Amino acid sequence: LEAELAQRRRADEALLESEQRHRAVIEQASEGIILTDADSRRIIEANPAIARLLGYTLDQLVGRLIYDLIADTREGVDARIARVLESKVPLVGERPFRRRDSSVVPVESSAVVVEWSGRRVICTVVRDITERKRAEEALRQSEQRTRQIVETAHDAFVSIDARGYIIGWNAQAEATFGWRCQEAIGRELAETIVPPQHRQAHRQGLKRFIASGEGHVIDRRIEITALHRDGHEFPVELSISPLRIGDTVQFNAFIHDITHRRQAQRLLEQKNRELEQAVQSERQAIEKLKATQSALVQAEKLAALGQMVAGVAHEINNPLSFVANNVAVLQRDLTAMRRLLELYRAQDGLLAAHNPAVAAEARELADRIDLDYTLANLDDLLARSREGLRRIQQIVGDLRDFARLDQNQLQEADLNAGIESTVNIIQGLARKRQVRIELKLGQIPPVTCYPAKINQVVMNLLSNAIDACKPGDMVTVATRAENEQVQIEVADTGSGIDPAIRSRIFDPFFTTKPIGQGTGLGLSISYGIVQDHAGRIEVDSEPGKGSKFVVYLPLHPRK
Ligand SMILES: Nc1ncnc2c1ncn2[C@@H]1O[C@H](COP(=O)(O)OP(=O)(O)OP(=O)(O)O)[C@@H](O)[C@H]1O
Ligand SMILES: [Mg+2]
Repeated sequence: LEAELAQRRRADEALLESEQRHRAVIEQASEGIILTDADSRRIIEANPAIARLLGYTLDQLVGRLIYDLIADTREGVDARIARVLESKVPLVGERPFRRRDSSVVPVESSAVVVEWSGRRVICTVVRDITERKRAEEALRQSEQRTRQIVETAHDAFVSIDARGYIIGWNAQAEATFGWRCQEAIGRELAETIVPPQHRQAHRQGLKRFIASGEGHVIDRRIEITALHRDGHEFPVELSISPLRIGDTVQFNAFIHDITHRRQAQRLLEQKNRELEQAVQSERQAIEKLKATQSALVQAEKLAALGQMVAGVAHEINNPLSFVANNVAVLQRDLTAMRRLLELYRAQDGLLAAHNPAVAAEARELADRIDLDYTLANLDDLLARSREGLRRIQQIVGDLRDFARLDQNQLQEADLNAGIESTVNIIQGLARKRQVRIELKLGQIPPVTCYPAKINQVVMNLLSNAIDACKPGDMVTVATRAENEQVQIEVADTGSGIDPAIRSRIFDPFFTTKPIGQGTGLGLSISYGIVQDHAGRIEVDSEPGKGSKFVVYLPLHPRK
């Protein structure tokens, strides 16, 4: 019996110790623990954690009705207790508890029913989730704000999952693409807003990004074509950014319809082009005006000069021809008269014997005019006069050739002859400047042209060449025929042309000469004349060494 008593005592001690251990656990627990009698609904036991949470002392809690602690109606609490009593496993849920000061605290509770020496007791474990709730609420608000921003954005917002299916679609997306949000969500993006011709590329791009993380269109602003529900395509600007969530990814895109911008751009470009065209045609008009002006000036110059030259030549020609005739007659008659005079002189003695006074007077006169010398020189004098007259006739002829007022229509002309006349006219100027002109005229066929105008061209080239020369320089004029064309070449050893002005020398009124000396029309007129003959002018020049102008003329410009 003693042994039995000792065993009982040991068992009691073990029990006591176990109970003390459990009590310690309950009292130390950070979670609230409440034991409630299922029938009376009164609290049998509570731990310090729950007392702290709800603002009671442990004494105040024990014996209190459980309804006081839960922020719910009595019916609500009863219904829940009924469910706990039926359930074999703990019922877990979130519910608001009420503190002693009536404030409410959100908790997560787990309740289970246990049998305790015939009584049914509900054991409830309570955890304060105020912090979690606050975080959840903050998150919810942040999400809502984001959603509002997205919803009110002026851009369409579209997001897709890694497979390319639509998971986000805002109001502007509805307006832009014509699909309502509920319709769009769950559709494949490629089938919805990507035009058929781009779908393949879109799907491949998506796959490539998933596989390698590389994409041409990611995180950049790009312009592409999109498809509206009604089938029409339109330009959009979009930026896509991937969003990694765990080990999957979604893509968010802001898309902006740029139809109007494109239209404005196109309009602007169109206006620009029109403006350019206007400027261009104005420039052409000015060019044409200049050309017309210079042609007019030239025509007048040419006409006036031609008329004057022709008039002078004509007026000189008449007296010139009778003077020339008379000189020829004079030369013939003088020969006879000299013969007669010699006969008389041979009879000098006879006259002196008969009439010494007359003889003396004749001798005195003969001495005064140095008769012997005069008689000896007479032939030479007359020959030189006739040569002079011949030269005057030549010049007058050249002037008439040059003006050629009688030849104002197309005709076959010997260009070499015209060039010779022109050189003759300008020879005086060349000599004055001490510039030698050399002619190298080749065998050339007759050229169908306006001869006076071609003479004018040669004259302009020659006077430019002489202007560019300093004393001792030389100008060469050459002609040759080649491939149904003749070439007239005027080359000088003068100053040459600065490459910087090379492209402007044919411009009307471009001159480097002092005011009053050059009008800057020579080359532009020559250019026009040569063009009228379906020909061209080429220039070759080296500063300091000289220039070479070559005129190419077809033999028959109209054919
Ligand atoms: N042979 C040349 N050597 C050097 N410069 C030349 C030669 N020919 C023309 N030029 C340059 O080209 C310019 C234009 O020549 P252009 O014959 O058209 O006008 P200009 O001789 O100045 O005046 P204009 O001929 O009307 O009297 C000249 O001022 C000169 O600078
Ligand atoms: Mg000139």
